[in-house]
Order: sequence, then structure tokens, then C-alpha cells
Amino acid sequence: MAGEERTGSLLRALAASKPGGRVLELGTGTGVSTAWLLDGLDSSGSLVTVDVDESFQRVAREELGSDPRVEFVLEDGVAYLQRQDPMSFDLVFADAMAGKYDGLESALAVVKPGGFYIVDDMLPQPNWPDGHATRVEELLARMSKLAGFSIVPMVWATGVVVVVRRSGFEGFGEWNSAADDEDFRNL
Ligand SMILES: C[S@@+](CC[C@H](N)C(=O)[O-])C[C@H]1O[C@@H](n2cnc3c(N)ncnc32)[C@H](O)[C@@H]1O
Repeated sequence: MAGEERTGSLLRALAASKPGGRVLELGTGTGVSTAWLLDGLDSSGSLVTVDVDESFQRVAREELGSDPRVEFVLEDGVAYLQRQDPMSFDLVFADAMAGKYDGLESALAVVKPGGFYIVDDMLPQPNWPDGHATRVEELLARMSKLAGFSIVPMVWATGVVVVVRRSGFEGFGEWNSAADDEDFRNL
């Protein structure tokens, strides 16, 4: 959960590393991570935040909606991703099932060269439903085999993974089956 202060400060720093950055958040919730991301973006940056739950997003909209840099979208995250141009965002924070467990490739496809794709909540938590640990393992295994991306899985905060699209690897959809996923198994 991006309510974790360390994760929030990382999101803020990475947003700050992209002057004029275009940021996408999947899973607005009540806007905790939205606020961290906006705090990092400069005045020419912009942020689109997507959620399917109007009641959660309304809380964020009420708190942050006066900021001209933010756009709230009430839509399924994967449906939103599929309408976007390839490599059109500097940072994607995937904090919903959409764009993470569902539609991972669609989320990675919109990341610009040098841009970030970030997920958290990858370390075991007491409230995980049955079967979720297996989904996490499968996601980590898939990420460990990504071609054209540098991956940093961190045993830190709630388990954050930062993925960077490498410049010169603009193609998408190849998986590096030779990658060593030892680090990921240890996450
Ligand atoms: C972990 S919470 C987000 C927390 C938020 N980023 C924060 O820091 O407060 C996950 C959110 O994803 C939303 N969600 C669930 N399914 C979704 C989907 N298919 N597309 C977009 N958002 C979705 C939920 O409504 C929920 O608000």
C-alpha cells in the first residue's frame, strides 16, 4: 500500500526525476499515493489517476481535484491502458490488479524509454487472500524475464519493484528466458 511512507517518498523522488513528467497511476484509492506523486512532479508535470470505484476516487478528487496537473479517470485500468499511445508515460505506478496482475504487458507498453513502472505490496501481508502468494510469485517470475527493462526488486517497505525501460529496447513483448530470477525468488 502506498500509504507506506517509504514507498510514498520513493514515488515522490522518481516523479521529481522527470521534469515536465507525464505520470499514470492505476488505482487512485483515496489518493494517498496520488498526493505523493503530485508532490514530486514539477509545475509542468501532469498525472492521470484511474480507478473503478467512484466512492474511493471521490475522496481523492475532493482533496486533490483543485490541482490543475491531475486528471481523474473512472474506468477499468486495463481498458484505459489499451487506449493509450505506446511509450507515452514517464512513470506508471500500478497499484491495482489492473496493470499488474491483469494487463502487465499493456502497462509496460506505455512506459517511455528511461521511464519507470513501479509496483508495491510484493512482500507477504497478513491480509492476503488465499492464492494471492502464488499470483505474486508468478508476477515476480514474469518480471524477472522481461527483455529491454532493468528490474530492481526490493525487500523494503511493502516490497517495491522498480522497472525501467531501457533506451534502445523500444520493441515490446519479448521475454528474456535466460534471465536469472534468483533475486526475485529471494524477494
Ligand atoms: C491498493 S488500492 C489503491 C491505493 C492508492 N494508490 C493509495 O495510495 O491510497 C487499489 C485500488 O484499485 C482500484 N481498482 C480495483 N480494480 C481496478 C481496475 N480494474 N481498474 C482500476 N482500478 C481498480 C480499487 O478500487 C482500489 O481503489
